[in-house]
Amino acid sequence: MAAPRVDLADIQGLLRYGYGHHTESVFLALRVRDRAAARAWLAQADVANAVPQAPLPATVLQVAFSAEGLAALGVADDITAAFSPEFVAGMADPPERSRRLGDTGANDPAGWPWGTGPRTAHVLLLLYALPGGLDAFEQATRARYAMAFDLVARLPTVDMGGVEPFGFTDGISQPAVDWTGTRRMGEDKVLHYGNDVCLGEFVLGYRNEYGLYTDRPLLDPQRDPQALLARAEDQPDKADLGRNGSYLVLRQLEQDVAGFWRWIDAATQGDPTERELLAAAMVGRTKSGEPLAGCGDRGLNAFDFDADPDGLRCPLGAHVRRANPRTADMPAGTGGLLSQLVRTLGFDATARRHDLVASARLHRLLRRGREYRLAAEGRQGLHFVALNANIARQFEFVQTAWIASAHFNGLSGEVDPLLGTRSTAAGCADAFSRPSDDCPNRRETGLPQFVTLRGGGYFFLPGLRALRYLMEESR
Ligand code: HEM
Repeated sequence: MAAPRVDLADIQGLLRYGYGHHTESVFLALRVRDRAAARAWLAQADVANAVPQAPLPATVLQVAFSAEGLAALGVADDITAAFSPEFVAGMADPPERSRRLGDTGANDPAGWPWGTGPRTAHVLLLLYALPGGLDAFEQATRARYAMAFDLVARLPTVDMGGVEPFGFTDGISQPAVDWTGTRRMGEDKVLHYGNDVCLGEFVLGYRNEYGLYTDRPLLDPQRDPQALLARAEDQPDKADLGRNGSYLVLRQLEQDVAGFWRWIDAATQGDPTERELLAAAMVGRTKSGEPLAGCGDRGLNAFDFDADPDGLRCPLGAHVRRANPRTADMPAGTGGLLSQLVRTLGFDATARRHDLVASARLHRLLRRGREYRLAAEGRQGLHFVALNANIARQFEFVQTAWIASAHFNGLSGEVDPLLGTRSTAAGCADAFSRPSDDCPNRRETGLPQFVTLRGGGYFFLPGLRALRYLMEESR
């Protein structure tokens, strides 16, 4: 890996590492009980940065705040208000957001055990440990902050060896983040899908895929008398509170594993080969991770869907195809200059439909989720964690325009086969199309809901200088 041009000592490690060797982790959703004690503890907390370490640290602590949390910690209102609108409003507000995200019916925030109203998390602590080390780390951490916070939710995780509860290998596809800043984006269209993504798509304060700087709180330097913050690259007369930070989206997604396989067994009449084929079609990869679109011997992540425009190999609505359609800026191929012009002017109806799935590079997510299993309650699922610089353009777009859309990619009456709520604003969406060469109209119907949202929130994962500023100044 080439030398980064960024100050890794100022970036929380989760932006750079999945902490895969730290197989034990727990997330603590907290509310501020004693503001002064909370600020004092957070100001000196040993939060891990992104500098590579050998040997690996035995334990890792990461810290993030909700907008309500910043207010509860006494951060000045105008500073909190300068964060992005969706962060300021929160995941569960207003109801219109819940509708767009598919957080209705069984997913409605009204039914969440945590994450809304008085159970909105103020502070999220993410604790990671090498095998055998988590219990002591968690106890010591909780003892140290004891008076400062009340626990809203303790979210334990389980190491399932890289396999999510339905039985599929997860965490294969991640964007290749350009830590060296060599990727230059601007006006030019990108004509082929690639996995490289500008640092500014994930870390605030750097250029993004538009060649621009994502909005973030930029302060008058007088608000930062100790000069704790770096100056903004694009506006050097401003102190950059966002720099080296990111937004963290957390969603507790409970998986009905028995229901998933029961429905598949019924749909395939128990045929063992068909059962695996249908499940793989819903994901877009086999259980061991091979993409249905094919990748030859180039590795499990080197593929796109250009050679499969009708979804004959990987269904158009498969989870991985919705989550990342791997399109370039002109999705149905580059075409000649005239065809590009016709499309750019909006005269081509098919192209207009395709435009919704175009430019996947503008909608990438760094996924850092962990599985959980609560044996006593018989519940399991995924604590979905995504990092992004722009919640609206990245997480919310992927979730609303692709995963929860009943019109994705020209389909109708279906949403994500793994994640979808089957009743949408567009009516019932309980189908799943999986055409093949010999059966172009093959369509399953009556899919029940397999995944239920049990809580969540939008958080700001600050750079470490920004963390100190927020806890020591910022009133
Ligand atoms: C219980 C819930 C979920 C399950 C079981 C699940 C499962 C999977 C699996 C098995 C893969 C393929 C492995 C890989 O490519 O890494 C995958 C990929 C992916 N998922 Fe999910 N997922 C869930 C929720 C979500 C949510 C809520 C989102 C975003 C809103 C999401 C976004 C993605 C993305 C972006 C990829 C990579 C696609 C690619 O680049 O090819 N997933 N997921």
